[in-house]
Amino acid sequence: MSQRDVLIVGISGCSSSGKTTIAKLIAELLPGATLIHEDDFFKHDDEIPLNKKFGVKDWDCPEALDLDLFGQELDHIKATGKISAKLVHNNNVDDVSRFCVSKETKETLRKEFNAFEAASDVHVVVVDGFMMFHDPKIACKFDRKLLIRAPYASLKSRRAARSGYQTLDSFWIDPPFYFDEFVYKSYAKNHASLFEENDVEGRIRKNSGVQDYVNDDGMDINDALLWACHQIVSPLPSFSS
Ligand SMILES: Nc1ncnc2c1ncn2[C@@H]1O[C@H](COP(=O)(O)OP(=O)(O)OP(=O)(O)O)[C@@H](O)[C@H]1O
Ligand SMILES: [Mg+2]
Repeated sequence: MSQRDVLIVGISGCSSSGKTTIAKLIAELLPGATLIHEDDFFKHDDEIPLNKKFGVKDWDCPEALDLDLFGQELDHIKATGKISAKLVHNNNVDDVSRFCVSKETKETLRKEFNAFEAASDVHVVVVDGFMMFHDPKIACKFDRKLLIRAPYASLKSRRAARSGYQTLDSFWIDPPFYFDEFVYKSYAKNHASLFEENDVEGRIRKNSGVQDYVNDDGMDINDALLWACHQIVSPLPSFSS
């Protein structure tokens, strides 16, 4: 059997925007898709940069991740369609079964996706991660770039509702200042260039190469999944290459 082309779909966004939820559901619903998580490329706890001002580890800067290995892995997947790294996967996502995906959505997604696969003969790889579009060296590896957004207040309250994060060596619990001083600051700093007037609360730049979706509380997950699937199967706008 000849090797199929690989379409790498990046689903990124601030912590708690809902990217893992959407990526997991999309990968579950698209037959044959593979899902990988950038979170599996976090460094060991003792290699995470220490912020001297606050006296805590900064899990939210690009340096907390082994982005060289992540980039190599994406190249390997693109070339072979297979995952090479022995990844330790910490499942830091709430149960996605609480989101009700309708029968109609499932059928629409399968139909759209089967038609896409049959026409283009590609293997879809969905990659979920919070720091993938900040650096052109990594961003260029994605054939589709989807940015999941939510307003600051929703992000903050969702993050506060989480018990913490399993790391390679321990369990991280946010100190009270952590969302504002680390999570949101790093998201804003590293994604500003994708937005008009560098305003991450504003509109995405038309030539950013990124398609965005606002996944605020109360949004129907079915709409998010149909949007994401549509982005995957649609040809890229010419400006985003
Ligand atoms: N539309 C929504 N309405 C309400 N809650 C949502 C919605 N989408 C996601 N959530 C909830 O927000 C929380 C964060 O979701 P998720 O784990 O998918 O975020 P994430 O972007 O992957 O965050 P992180 O980068 O920290 O891994 C979860 O509790 C999830 O159930
Ligand atoms: Mg996640």
